[in-house]
Amino acid sequence: MKIIVTDTYEEMSKKAAEIIANKIIENNKCTLGLATGSTPIGTYKNLIKMYEDSKISFKDVTTINLDEYKGLSADHHESYRYFMNDNLFDHVDIKKENTYVLNGLACDDEKECKRFDEIINNHKPMALQLLGIGENGHIGFNEPADFFPFGTHLVKLSDSTMAVNKRFFKEEEMPKYAYTMGIGSIMMADTVLLIANGPKKAKTMRDSFQGKVTPHVPASILQMHKDAIIIGDKEAMKLLDL
Ligand code: GLP
Repeated sequence: MKIIVTDTYEEMSKKAAEIIANKIIENNKCTLGLATGSTPIGTYKNLIKMYEDSKISFKDVTTINLDEYKGLSADHHESYRYFMNDNLFDHVDIKKENTYVLNGLACDDEKECKRFDEIINNHKPMALQLLGIGENGHIGFNEPADFFPFGTHLVKLSDSTMAVNKRFFKEEEMPKYAYTMGIGSIMMADTVLLIANGPKKAKTMRDSFQGKVTPHVPASILQMHKDAIIIGDKEAMKLLDL
């Protein structure tokens, strides 16, 4: 596990984007696992700039996203498909048909999860999986549990995740369930890159990367990955003993 501490969010975002861009430069047909949330927005801005400067092209890149709220359509402003279009896909030369996000409106949960696992299987290994982290240590929407789920599954969001994420849902009720890629699929990526910023993440960063490996802190499994890169700004990393 490689741990990098940056002074600022901007520096964290730039470093993360450089690592992702290098994967595209190494293999322009690579598959990238992508994440949503406020943390990766700066990373995506840097990638868009690199594309505009002709340093990288997404023309032959495939992307697979981690998760999606159950019940939200692709054009709902809080759906993760909408987020990805808005923050990355609409600004680069990626082919939309090569961008995979779970379908929040799927009628059959089991079928949707199976469909997504087949997509992951057909593209493995992903060159890189980008991750943020929830305040309770969740990655994707893999919430603290008694075991590490392997494949894509439907999750009942924890009370703490509901409390943190409800700020995005102003007048409407927040979905209580989400689909997420499993921990097994995340761990199969060649490189896993987790980014975090701000003091609210400090405790979970210490528990995840200097505590014991346990499904009660899902991100702690990354300690077992062969090429995990953790980048945090100094606020997020302040409780780690480095
Ligand atoms: C959501 C997403 C996660 C993300 C987390 C943190 O719960 N499912 O993938 O890592 O939020 O979000 P933020 O980056 O806004 O702190």
